[in-house]
Formats: sequence, structure tokens, C-alpha cells
Amino acid sequence: MNATTTTPALGFGIIGVGMIADYHAQAIAAATGARLVGIATRSAENARVFAAKHGVPFATTSVAELVARPDIAVVCITTPSGAHLEPALAAVRAGKHLVVEKPIEITTERADELLRAADAAGVKISPIFQARFGEGARALKAAIEAGRFGRIVLASAYVKWHRSREYYTGWKGTLALDGGGAAMNQGIHGIDLLQWFAGMPDEVYARKTRRVYDHIEAEDTLSATLHYPNGALGSIEATTAAWPGWSRRIEICGEHGSACLKDDHLDEWKFREAQPHDDAIRAAGPDPAMASGAGAPNAISYQGHLRQIQDLVDSLRDNRPVAIDGHEARKAVALIRALYASAACGAPVKL
Ligand SMILES: NC(=O)c1ccc[n+]([C@@H]2O[C@H](COP(=O)([O-])OP(=O)(O)OC[C@H]3O[C@@H](n4cnc5c(N)ncnc54)[C@H](O)[C@@H]3O)[C@@H](O)[C@H]2O)c1
Repeated sequence: MNATTTTPALGFGIIGVGMIADYHAQAIAAATGARLVGIATRSAENARVFAAKHGVPFATTSVAELVARPDIAVVCITTPSGAHLEPALAAVRAGKHLVVEKPIEITTERADELLRAADAAGVKISPIFQARFGEGARALKAAIEAGRFGRIVLASAYVKWHRSREYYTGWKGTLALDGGGAAMNQGIHGIDLLQWFAGMPDEVYARKTRRVYDHIEAEDTLSATLHYPNGALGSIEATTAAWPGWSRRIEICGEHGSACLKDDHLDEWKFREAQPHDDAIRAAGPDPAMASGAGAPNAISYQGHLRQIQDLVDSLRDNRPVAIDGHEARKAVALIRALYASAACGAPVKL
């Protein structure tokens, strides 16, 4: 008798099939132990085209119909950022685990409503922050946890990207559905990495402006100084108005070492106390899974999403926590909301 049993692939659904849903479909197809069973989106024509492209057996315009399916265990929420909560609640109340695109929601209040519902239903949330799965990001996090920097002096994130004028049509740059601009939509990847590495600041002082894209409601540019509870200082700069768009940089500078993560490549990596693997880290090229979205949103690779979706599938199989949970993803939203509050009142804001 064959003692090995094969676990059936976990059924996935996707709600909202626009630009990023394509990456989710590719990642689910490439993940081990996952299969895409159904999608729901507002337009029947979009649903049909997407289902045909990805070979999805079930397509509907009804969120309720999708989440009622017993063969779906995980639902990816890829609707506009300020429209994550309602379909996410429907999925959670139907007992589905979630993958939710960044930001988890556009306010801490809406994020909290989802977190409470997921906790009550006993389901997992894997909020997308694919940049945390890069080799460079992981090496930097490990060095911080090992105390290699000593006391951190400055911890900063710079996300100077470019989005075209045409990008800002529809919901992008609106306060109701994007929740903000260069910080909430694009800068958030760097802001999440920064708080993962250095922890949450306890005070921020920000300014924001519409320097070029004066037709949008939100900011195209934001700059802030940060103070951390341990006394370290730092900066955040985010824009979508700078052509051609540079690599994202996260700089961690400490009394015993300094590093710069340029996209996912450790461009600077120097410590007083060298370790044998330092040369390999310096020599490593950029992680191909972490292609940059500096110049255009669709320049990224689905490989980052694949790593995160694989983590969720494995965590469900092994009954262990996901690498990033909903409470963790809320931190970037809280930090960006504090930046906006500071910019609005023209004074430092405590977190
Ligand atoms: N992780 C990343 O690198 C990354 C990159 C781009 C976008 N995103 C995030 O993905 C999300 C979607 O962005 P996008 O660029 O794909 O947007 P998009 O406008 O291309 O797609 C959104 C889709 O959702 C549909 N939709 C809207 N409301 C709906 C609802 N209530 N129910 C069902 N469908 C609905 C729309 O019709 C559209 O097809 C956003 O939260 C964004 O921040 C993440």
C-alpha cells in the first residue's frame, strides 16, 4: 500500500480583476499546492476575459456567489485600496483566509474592522508586502536582529518614483479609494520595510504637496523627519512626480555599520566587525524576483507575490503563523496616517 497521501491543492478566488490581479493569478498558478478556482469582478466582460486568459473555471460579478463556494479556501482582495474592506469582510464571514493587497486598507479604523472580523472568524490574513521577501531585505533584517549595527543612528526610506499623468485616472490619487498618493500607494513599500527594519517612529513631522500632478486630490510628493523611541532619527521622502523614477533606497546607519538597500540589492554593506558571508552579500546582484516598480507599476515581477502566497499556503498546511499578518500590515497604514496628520496640522505628530 502506498503510504503517501497527496493533499489537494488549496482553492483560491480573486475579487477585483485589474492590473495586480494578473500577478496574483500567475503567482497562484506557480505556487505549490494552490489552484485558482474562481474570480469575481464588477464587469462581466472583464471577468470573462480574465477567466479565459488564466483558465479560471468560474467567473462572476457577484462577490457573494464567489465566497459561497466550498472549493475556495483563500480569497485574494485586489480591488482599489479603499474598497478592500467590504469584499474582505464578505470573504472572512464566509470563513475564507485572505490575501489582501497593500495597503490593507486606507485608514486604521477600516483596517481594525477587518482585523477584528478575521480574528473572530479564526482566519488568516496575508497582506501583500512582497518586498519583505527579497534576499537583500532578509539579509538586512537578519543583520539588524543580530545587532550588527550597534545603536542605529539614522533609519530612512526614499521612494522617488515616476507615474505618468495618465496613471492618475479613475481611483488613483483619490482620497476615497487610494487614501492618499505617493506615500499611501507607492511609498508604502519602502515605509513598511523601514518600520520592519527600524521599528515604528514615535514622532513624525511631515510636509506634502502636489508639485506636478495638481489635478489629483492626494499628494504627489511627501517629505518627513522621524524620531524613534530609542533616540534614532530618520527621513521619509516619497514622490511619483520625479522622472524617470529611481530605485527605492532604505538606509540604515549605525555606530558599528551602515547599509543601503537599493531596491533589493545591498548597495552599501559595511561593518566594523566583518563576517565571512559579507563578501557574498556585497557581490550578490539584485534579486530578480524583486524587479522595481520605480518607473511603472507593471514593471514588477509576480515572483514576489509567489513567495508571499507560497508562505500562506505553507502556513495553512503546517499550521504556523504567516510571515506578515494583518496586525503587522496595519503599522504602515498607521505611520502614513500620522504623516498625513502632521502635514495637515503643520506640526509634529506623536504615534
Ligand atoms: N503589491 C504591489 O506591488 C501592487 C501594485 C499595484 C497595485 N497594488 C494594489 O492592488 C490593488 C488594486 O490595484 P490595481 O492597480 O490592480 O487596480 P485596478 O483599477 O487595475 O483594478 C481594480 C479592479 O477591481 C475592480 N473592482 C473595484 N471595486 C470592486 C468591488 N467592490 N468588487 C469587485 N471588483 C471591484 C475594478 O473594476 C478593477 O477591475 C490596490 O490596493 C493597489 O494598491 C499593489
